[in-house]
Amino acid sequence: MTISGNGPIGIFDSGVGGLTVASAVKQVLPDETIIYFGDTAHLPYGDKSPEAILHYSKKITDFLLEHNCRVILAACNTVSATVWKELERYIGERAVAVNVIDPIVNRVVRSMSSSSLGVIGTKNTINSGAYPEKIKKVLPGLRVSSLATPLLVPMIEEGFIYDDISNAIIRAYLSDTRLEGIDTLILGCTHYPIIKNQIRKFYDFRVDVIDSAMTVAEELRELLEPGGRCDGRGGRGDRFFVSDYTEYFRKIAGMFFENEISLEKQDLWK
Ligand code: DGL
Repeated sequence: MTISGNGPIGIFDSGVGGLTVASAVKQVLPDETIIYFGDTAHLPYGDKSPEAILHYSKKITDFLLEHNCRVILAACNTVSATVWKELERYIGERAVAVNVIDPIVNRVVRSMSSSSLGVIGTKNTINSGAYPEKIKKVLPGLRVSSLATPLLVPMIEEGFIYDDISNAIIRAYLSDTRLEGIDTLILGCTHYPIIKNQIRKFYDFRVDVIDSAMTVAEELRELLEPGGRCDGRGGRGDRFFVSDYTEYFRKIAGMFFENEISLEKQDLWK
């Protein structure tokens, strides 16, 4: 297999949540072509075993490499937190490997003046301890509190956003004593940018709420700059694949991606 030096940007997630990152990449690098894969057949990854997550991620990586992607971007915190080392090793020299946690730690946390930081995410992301571990390496003195908020992904996917039900769920989670007194909150899941303003409002806009989408896109721009070349199609060749297709996925994809996109079904496991 030959990987061309100007191939597309491959982006994947367990489902449509990673489209928040894809959308930011499109804004920052409009001339790049994106190949997106949402593993909707296996969603959610948030409570799967690391073995299963790695197995799915490798298969998706192979698919993206077959499309000559020169970047593999895991737009999923769960993948980035639980199986990143193994996946990065698997990708090896075949493409540039990017996750969604390191850019936040290196570009945002490193230079912040927070004295008490909170992180929310799926059970797997929080139980892995990846965020506190990486953050402590750059800011050893910072108090970091983490909380799993597993209801938020299904809540968003069911369309409960900016309403009473989602306000009640967000309030119940964010009132947890573990997050008491924080001045900054990291949204450790690529679904959560959808409810970012709702979360900011819960805190009366007094807590700095950070998501990874734009930061990851900017990191990517810098990584690509030395090589600099895209495929010359002016970003018009984007494709969006899902492993299971329903009308419902099509509908919610619109919520995560600013442009109208059409989803193609590609079952990698048949
Ligand atoms: N978007 C995934 C993440 O960032 C969460 C969804 C899932 O649990 O599969 O962790």
